[in-house]
Amino acid sequence: MAARKSLLLTRKSLLLKWFTIPRPVYPMLLLVRPFATLGPERSPASTPSLNSIGRVHSTASYCTGSAETWAQYGIKLACESDGKYMEITFVDGYSTRFNSTWLRYHCHCDHCKQAHSGQRLIDPSSVPNKLTVKHVQLNGDKSLVIEFNEHDHKTIIPVDFLRENDYSPAARAERSRLRDPVHLTGADKLPIIDFKDMNTNEGLLSWLVAVNDYGAAIIKNTPTREDFLGELLDVERKGFKVHPTIGPVMPTIYGNFFVVEGADKPVNIAYTDVYLDLHMDLIYYESAPGIQFLHCVRFDDVVQGGESLLLDSFLVAEQMREKFSAQFDALRRIPASFQKVHYERDSPVSMKYQKPVIVCNPEGKLTAVNWAPAFESPLSIAEEDIPPFYEAYKTYATLLKESPHLIKFRLVPGDVMTFNNRRVLHGRSSFALNGGRRKLMGCYMNIDEFKSQVEVCAQLCGKPTTAKRVGNHDFF
Ligand SMILES: [Fe+2]
Ligand SMILES: [Zn+2]
Repeated sequence: MAARKSLLLTRKSLLLKWFTIPRPVYPMLLLVRPFATLGPERSPASTPSLNSIGRVHSTASYCTGSAETWAQYGIKLACESDGKYMEITFVDGYSTRFNSTWLRYHCHCDHCKQAHSGQRLIDPSSVPNKLTVKHVQLNGDKSLVIEFNEHDHKTIIPVDFLRENDYSPAARAERSRLRDPVHLTGADKLPIIDFKDMNTNEGLLSWLVAVNDYGAAIIKNTPTREDFLGELLDVERKGFKVHPTIGPVMPTIYGNFFVVEGADKPVNIAYTDVYLDLHMDLIYYESAPGIQFLHCVRFDDVVQGGESLLLDSFLVAEQMREKFSAQFDALRRIPASFQKVHYERDSPVSMKYQKPVIVCNPEGKLTAVNWAPAFESPLSIAEEDIPPFYEAYKTYATLLKESPHLIKFRLVPGDVMTFNNRRVLHGRSSFALNGGRRKLMGCYMNIDEFKSQVEVCAQLCGKPTTAKRVGNHDFF
């Protein structure tokens, strides 16, 4: 816990360092920007007077440098006359604006935010509906003190926080772009990483980034011990600084680890030798596993078939959107049903979940695909939705089946196939053992833990990156 806390603190300080605008040698200037320069969205009728914005600090009380230095590092502020927005121009000339209610909710004062945890303490029921900015003051610690028409509170917000959390359309589009996954278009794009190179944070980062970007990667030359995945992931994560680990393992109804090998009366079709169509695992969970690991410990030469299959479901969904937009929309709108109901096993299970095959965020960007035909339960939707659902469902299935982007390869002992189970579909061709053995050990990792590891490890390595938009229906 202590290690985790220090990690968080390290990350926080690194983040601050990363995002901080070059700090001026001299304190900054608070200027009121004439309304006429605010742009076309404001009505000239609401031109504010200086008094409506608040006190303007005398430059003399702050300025210890030359006028040129002030100009270079100055921050400009302005408010609409009705105080619904505050516009800020940063040191590099970039301007944006913030809604007054938004500003109130992001107060950093001790009353509204706990300093060491960063957790918000503000009581939403105490915030007035219509807040307007009445007065703004720039503090020497580069924070703003904002007073609203709410008399009993002074809101404190660091200027850097505003820059970092700018929610203008352009800023949100840029943040969104950083979360776009890179499509896995074929075997030539499948990242290969040698296990001996994963011993350091830098090495671990190469795997994290590969799976984050492309949705899959193969780790080569690992030991073929059957308990190796436990070592690779760590059931209880040790962290990065002492011992870089991928972990932790996500336990499921199949336990922490599972074996993929032919079995009598299997509890899953995977434990046979038949063809396994493209699918996602455990999609009947509310939060299905994020990353799947399949460690090849045995694959004898005499075994025929059994090649692994991978296909980027997001890539195919985007192709569907382009060619069959109405059907794409149908799979977004009409929910499918998934289930795992199985009492004839050591631990009986009954899980049912209804969700659409395709999920997009409010901007229309793909956030999730839910695809596991073998685990669908009876469709339970309005009758008029049945024809459009099945038409769209068949189209998507056909596009998957005919996709030129299918990756097919034969694992060799020591390979660990790793992929984002929420994005990259997996399957297997049928096989004939011919007296040999094919044995894989498997486990999962939660998508949230994975996304966290991506950003933390990248930060610790001084190469900040953003976890991609592929997960548990995360709208970012
Ligand atoms: Fe599977
Ligand atoms: Zn406060």
